[in-house]
Amino acid sequence: MKKLLSLFLALCIALGLSAQGMWLPSLLEKQNEKDMKSLGLKLSADDIYSPAKPSVKDAICWFHGGCTGEMISPEGLLLTNYHCGVDQIQTHSTLEHNYLEDGFWAKNRGEEIPCPGLWVQFIMRMEDVTIVALQGVTDGMSETDRQSQIDKNIAMLRSTVKKEKWEEVEVRPFYNGNQYFLFVVQLFPDVRFVGAPPGSIGKFGADTDNWVWPRHTGDFSMFRVYADKDNHPATYSKDNLPYRPGHFLPISLEGAEEGDFSMVYGFPGRTDEYLTEAGVRQTAEVLDPAKVAIRDRSLKIIDGFMRKDPAVKIAYSARYASISNSWKKWFGEMQGLKTYKALDKKREYEAEFTRRIQQNPEWSTRWKNLLPRLRQSYQDIEPYVLARDYYSETCLRNNEILTTAANLGTWIDSYDEKNKALFTSKIENVKAGMEAFFKDYHPEVDMAALAAMLEMFAENTKPEWGANDVKVMAEEAGGYPALSKKIITNSTIANRDKFIALLTTKSPPEIVETLKKDPAYALWARLQGYYTAQVQPKLQEIQPKINLLQRQYMAAQMEVFKEKKFFPDANSTLRLTYGKIRGFSPRDALQYEYQTDLDGVMEKYIPGDYEFDVPQKLIELWKAKDYGQYATTDGRLPVACIGTNHTTGGNSGSPALDANGNLVGLNFDRVWEGTMSDLNYDPAICRNIMVDTRYILFIVDKFAGAGYLLNEMKLVKGKKKRHK
Ligand code: ARG
Ligand code: ASP
Repeated sequence: MKKLLSLFLALCIALGLSAQGMWLPSLLEKQNEKDMKSLGLKLSADDIYSPAKPSVKDAICWFHGGCTGEMISPEGLLLTNYHCGVDQIQTHSTLEHNYLEDGFWAKNRGEEIPCPGLWVQFIMRMEDVTIVALQGVTDGMSETDRQSQIDKNIAMLRSTVKKEKWEEVEVRPFYNGNQYFLFVVQLFPDVRFVGAPPGSIGKFGADTDNWVWPRHTGDFSMFRVYADKDNHPATYSKDNLPYRPGHFLPISLEGAEEGDFSMVYGFPGRTDEYLTEAGVRQTAEVLDPAKVAIRDRSLKIIDGFMRKDPAVKIAYSARYASISNSWKKWFGEMQGLKTYKALDKKREYEAEFTRRIQQNPEWSTRWKNLLPRLRQSYQDIEPYVLARDYYSETCLRNNEILTTAANLGTWIDSYDEKNKALFTSKIENVKAGMEAFFKDYHPEVDMAALAAMLEMFAENTKPEWGANDVKVMAEEAGGYPALSKKIITNSTIANRDKFIALLTTKSPPEIVETLKKDPAYALWARLQGYYTAQVQPKLQEIQPKINLLQRQYMAAQMEVFKEKKFFPDANSTLRLTYGKIRGFSPRDALQYEYQTDLDGVMEKYIPGDYEFDVPQKLIELWKAKDYGQYATTDGRLPVACIGTNHTTGGNSGSPALDANGNLVGLNFDRVWEGTMSDLNYDPAICRNIMVDTRYILFIVDKFAGAGYLLNEMKLVKGKKKRHK
C-alpha cells in the first residue's frame, strides 16, 4: 500500500502534475514558489501577490460574487466570460436591440451601458488572523458557543484593523474553520458594459458543448470599472472616471503550447476535496441523481417553448443556461466519481489514515471515532438533505411562480401593524424587482414547469412533508396541469397589471391580506411551513455535528499526513492554481489534443441552429484565412486550450497566465471527464478550459471592428510558437 502511494506520488511529480490545489496568494513563497519555478514560472511569488507593491493580484477582481474578472488596460477595462456577463447582456436586450443575438460594442466611453447593481471587488491585502479569531475557543465548547465567540473576535478584528475609509474588511474561515484569514477589499459599484460578441460566438455550442472538450466557444465579454476622481470606489455618477488599477495584464500574442507553465488566478467558489467516503457517496449516489432527474424535466419543458418562440428564447436563455449548467455538472460529477473510482480511493485513504493513528496512542485517543461518527452522521442526515434539495429544486428553483412568492414572502412577513415604515419603504424596490421579473415572464412556460415540479414533489417526498397536500390538491383540480393552471391564472403574482395596481392603489394591510390569500403564495407558504417545521430543525441539529467532525478530520489529516501539502477548499476567496498546458487521454486509445482552432468551429457549424450557427462574417474571415497577427505560424487561428490548473465554479473569467504573467487565456470551463474535480481532483483527467486570447482579440478586432479597444491594451509580441 505504502509503496503504491509513493509510486503514485512519484508518477505525479514525473508528469509535472504535482501541482493540484487552489493556493493562498499570500503563502505562495512558503508553499509553492519552488514547485512553480520548477514547472517553469519566471516571476517571483512577490510579483504575483504583494500587500505592499503593485503585483498581479491588483489586476484580479471578484465579479459580482460569482465569477472572476481582470484588468486588461490602465483604464479599467475588464475582461470576463460571456456567460458571466450574460445577465447584463440580456437585461439590455430587446427584440429591436437584440444584443444576445447580435452582440454589442460601445464605440466610445459615452456608449458604455451602466449596469445598476453590478459590482466588482479587489483585494488589497490578506492576513492570517487565526490566533485572534480563535481566541477563547476551547475544545469542549458547543458549536453555537464556539461560533459566537468567533463572531465576537471577528467583530473586534473588523473594527480595529487598519484600513482606508473606502475599504472594507472581511474575515473568512479556511480548512473547515481551523484557520481564519482577513481581507481588506475595495468594492466598486460603478461597472459599465463595454461589449460582447453575438451569442453564436459567446456561447457557441451552448449547452450541448458545455462541460465538454473539444470546445470552440468565444466565451468572453468586456466591462469597464469606474471610480471617483481620487480613484476610489463610488456609486454610479456621470463624473466618475475609468478606474486606474495597480496592475493590468499584458496580453500575449505568442499563445501557449503543450507543456508550457500555466496558472489561473481567481475566485473559486466551493470545493469539498476532503470529504470522507460517506460524504462523497451521498453526493454521488443520492443527491446528484435526485437533482439531475428534477432538472431533466424542467429543462425539457423550457427547451420546448424556447424552440417554438423567439421571444421566449430571449427571455429564458439565461435562466435555461443556468439551470442546465448545474444539471450537466452533477450528471458528469456522478458519472466521473463512479468511473474513476472515487469511493475506492477514499476508502484506501481512510484505511491509511486509520492505520497511522492506530500506531500513535495519542492520535488514536483523539481521532479513532472520527470516521465512524462521520459515517453515522451522514446516514442520519440523508433523508433531510434529500428533502431540502427536493424542496428547493421543485419549489424554489425550477418554476418561477413559487420562487417569486418565496421572495415576496420575506417582505410580506416583515409587515408589522404597529410599524408600517419598514414595509412601506420597500414598496418601490419590490415594484422594480417585479417589473424585471414580468419583463421575462411567460406564464404558459411556467404553468408547464410548475405542473411537472408539483408532480415530482408529490411523488418523491414524504407524504407528511407536504407531498400528500399537493396530491390532494391535484386530485381536486383534475390533475397537475389543471392545478398549475388554476394557481397561475388566479395569482396576482403572475399578473403584472394586477400586481402593480395592488401596490399602487392599496394600503399596506390590504396588500398583505391580498397576497397572503394569493394561491401561489398560499401554496408556497404551506410547503415552506412543512419544511421549516419538519426538515430544517433536523438539519440544524445534525449539520453542526458534521461540521465539527469534518473540522476535526481536516486538522487530523494535516497532522497525520505531514508529508502532504494541503490547500484549503475553495471558499470564494482569491486563489492561485498552476500546472501546465496539456492534453489528456480520457479512455483507452483516445487522446485529446490541447488546442482547438477556427476550422473546428466550422466543422461544428449547423446553419440556423440554436446552438451551432456561425455568423456570416466569421465564415467569410475563415474562408479568406484573414487572421492577421492572431494566426499561428502555420496559419491557423487558435480558439481554446486546456491545462492542468485546478479550478472550479467561480473561476470563470479568471485569467490564464503564462510563466511571465502575460494573459494567454480566459478560463471558462472544465472537461466532461473531470467535472468530479470538486470532490475528487484527478490530475490525469481533470482539465480546465480556456479561450485563447488570440481568439478574443481577433473577434474584437477583425470580427466586431472594435479594434480601437486594443489601443489601450498592452500586446506582447514574442516569438510565435509551434502549435498542436
Ligand atoms: N460550465 C461552465 C461553468 O460552470 C460554463 C457555463 C456557461 N455555459 C452554459 N452553456 N450554460 O460555469
Ligand atoms: N464555468 C465555471 C464558472 O462559471 C467554471 C468551472 O466550473 O470550471 O465559474
